[in-house]
Amino acid sequence: MNILLLGSGGRESALAWKISQSPLTNQLYIAPGNGGTGAYGTNVALSPVDFPAIAQFVRDHAIDLLVVGNEDPLVAGIVDYMRQAVPALPVVGPEKAGAMLEGSKDFSKRFMTEEGIPTARYRSFTAGTIADGYAFLETLQPPYVLKADGLAAGKGVLIVPTLAEAREALAQMLHGMFGQSSATVVIEEFLSGIECSVFVLTDGHGGYRILPVAKDYKRIGEGDTGLNTGGMGAVSPVPFADDAFMAKVEERIVRPTVDGLIRRGIDYRGFIFLGLINVGGEPYVIEYNVRMGDPETEVVMLRVASDLVPLMLAAAKGHLGDMVLDHDTRCAATVMAVSGGYPEAYEQGKAISGTDLAGDSILFHAGTKIDADGRLVTSGGRVIAASSYGPTLQQALATSYKAIEALQFDKKYFRRDIGNEFPNS
Ligand code: AMP
Ligand code: GLY
Repeated sequence: MNILLLGSGGRESALAWKISQSPLTNQLYIAPGNGGTGAYGTNVALSPVDFPAIAQFVRDHAIDLLVVGNEDPLVAGIVDYMRQAVPALPVVGPEKAGAMLEGSKDFSKRFMTEEGIPTARYRSFTAGTIADGYAFLETLQPPYVLKADGLAAGKGVLIVPTLAEAREALAQMLHGMFGQSSATVVIEEFLSGIECSVFVLTDGHGGYRILPVAKDYKRIGEGDTGLNTGGMGAVSPVPFADDAFMAKVEERIVRPTVDGLIRRGIDYRGFIFLGLINVGGEPYVIEYNVRMGDPETEVVMLRVASDLVPLMLAAAKGHLGDMVLDHDTRCAATVMAVSGGYPEAYEQGKAISGTDLAGDSILFHAGTKIDADGRLVTSGGRVIAASSYGPTLQQALATSYKAIEALQFDKKYFRRDIGNEFPNS
């Protein structure tokens, strides 16, 4: 099979690594890819949101499966577009109506409420109803959670300690703090607990498979302090997400989500990402995403024991049937090396060395590129994730840390405390 994968992050590196191992894969193309994805296939200089160019590439290169890694093309309707442009092409990713689960917090909260899926109590407000928003804030306990309705590159959520700051944040968001994305603001109850990420591959017809569970580390600073980032590391499995917890997740969240999509006539063939929080042993949904997580994919792919290509193809064709998705029993961990300054301003174009010293780690490139002189240089905030297996999480982490220490580029930064809350796992 010829496969086209869209995206350029660490997630796409891990997907490409996994896809390239399948005996079914003939040619793998990654658009646009990064400085590391060339090891698994051929990078193609195409933007994931240039739908006509992608359709042309699909025709010219006899692509048999399109895998959409990142959310932007999905929210912009790539699946609906391809259905018209290349009707026979199987695509991994939801149609636009399904991508609303990530594209609109208001939509996803309404969906969960209607389906009885556990989530924080909420209401949505616009500039015209700001007074109701102030009144709703009065009914909540601090801290206050305010979310821009639309996509805001992971930055659209504010958690503020006082009512006065919450009122101020609401006014600013409604007046364009995140542009059109915050023209509607969701205010919700704060939930206290530990988060984890559950991924589901669905075929749009009621078939689904649950992938290995992961936990990511979103804050820039050790001890979960400082600004939110795209993710600084991840582990899988997650010690508290045991069989009992996962049974609740499947019963209360996965099935009602899959059923609710079908009930709405939404043909969702692709990955659903459940951002969950464990509140005293009970799972609640913090958010949906309509793609795999990054850097969760950099551990989840290590723990998918089955060939993912036939599973993705079957899901894209609408029939998972009785296909098996086996989980590897080993542990996996990933640690992300980032550019100093990230997630605020940082420099790019720094020469990277030490990629040959990764030992037993797999280096998944994110913000890297090959420059005009053929050198590997940094080109983003998150630069390279080192993923490793281990008999325990701590041993997997130790292997990843060795690889991250060996990696060199100017102003390299990484968190040294990934997985520290699980010292005995
Ligand atoms: P989101 O973009 O919705 O995932 O929110 C970003 C982060 O904000 C989440 O990963 C949580 O850490 C935090 N968060 C969002 N909603 C809540 C909530 N209702 N209670 C507590 N923390 C939250
Ligand atoms: N790691 C969180 C995300 O991919 O959104």
